[in-house]
Amino acid sequence: MRKLLTGISELTGIVPEGVLRKQGADMGRTGTLQDAWLLIEDGRIADFGTGPEPAADEILSCDGGMVLPAFCDSHTHIVYAGSRDGEFLDKIKGLSYEEIAARGGGILNSADLLHETPEDELYAQSLERVRGMMAMGTGAIEIKSGYGLRTEDELKMLRVIRRIRQEVPAVVRATFLGAHAVGRGYTKEAYVDLVCREMLPKVAAEGLADFVDVFCDEGFFTVEDTARILEEGRRLGLRPKIHANELAVSGGVQVGVRYDALSVDHLERTTDAEIEALRGSGTMPTMLPGSSFFLGLPYGRAKDYIQAGLGIALASDYNPGSSPSGDMRFVMALGCIRMRLTPVQALNACTLNSAYAMGVSDVCGSVTRGKLANLIITRPGFTLTKIPYLHHTPFIRTVLLRGEEAE
Ligand code: NIG
Ligand code: FE
Repeated sequence: MRKLLTGISELTGIVPEGVLRKQGADMGRTGTLQDAWLLIEDGRIADFGTGPEPAADEILSCDGGMVLPAFCDSHTHIVYAGSRDGEFLDKIKGLSYEEIAARGGGILNSADLLHETPEDELYAQSLERVRGMMAMGTGAIEIKSGYGLRTEDELKMLRVIRRIRQEVPAVVRATFLGAHAVGRGYTKEAYVDLVCREMLPKVAAEGLADFVDVFCDEGFFTVEDTARILEEGRRLGLRPKIHANELAVSGGVQVGVRYDALSVDHLERTTDAEIEALRGSGTMPTMLPGSSFFLGLPYGRAKDYIQAGLGIALASDYNPGSSPSGDMRFVMALGCIRMRLTPVQALNACTLNSAYAMGVSDVCGSVTRGKLANLIITRPGFTLTKIPYLHHTPFIRTVLLRGEEAE
């Protein structure tokens, strides 16, 4: 089955085969063609170009819209139960994220709700969020556990992620985040034991996760706890992705690099030492401007990372407590408006580099021959700059995932 997209005003996000991430000055570059066509064969990008169009079984005219790679969202917590809008009101009244957590709200509140919610119901609620994300142009999603905090509930979350992965056309990856908070009734030491001795072996035995994550931050898990969990995860074949430096400079970046983490995420608080530690590593610094926006935290020092020759990824952090939105276009706009990324840098951060940060940049994240045809077709009149500039004007005409219109 050959499907031809015609009438593309601008085809952007073109990256040569074999390039798995962009760093430094290269973050400011992307391949672009004007007045282009793109051929999809069996759900993959077969070819693209300008001038004479190849034969196809089906033609889809883009009517002068632009075409860009679908967003990749390498950091989400979208499997959760219910809502935390009560805490939103507390936040408006002036309580901080830490104060809400200390009152038994926050992650522990989500864990209680999740415990009471049957698996099928949790799946239905989470699937609806994934469908919303796909409609907003996201074609690859990493999803974390971490609202279970008991072995059975962590496994329940991961089974829900597996079902989502089997159901939707988006590329889905699963991360075990048992060390998201200390479960009720445990000391921290006993809980870290539980994560290492019981949860991780079960998760690995059932093949339920691709990655292991730890919330390495003030008031949550220390560098020593993190090292112990990563050590165990690595023994079981799970590569780390770390939450670090959201609430304080935690040492999480350095421990992540030491254990060859695929990404270190948040980084609202960064000194030059973190930037230095990341140089020459395979670890993608990932920033989550949606949580900076929602919690009123500093935005990451994206420009400084790029200046130092590093790449950065952006992701939504979609979760009920610190970023209740999976809108990657908004993330891209915050990247430009608040972190002063150029639209091309923000696009690379939200597509190829975010795909790298979830280990899928060989199959998606750019317009490259052989990659999945995960594409956004915009309404006519849009340019790459206008996507973040007109930040809430509807811009999507069609989202294609594996070459088919996402429903
Ligand atoms: O990435 N920082 C830790 N975890 C989530 C928030 C989870 C929550 O509040 O429910 C985050 O922001
Ligand atoms: Fe997170």
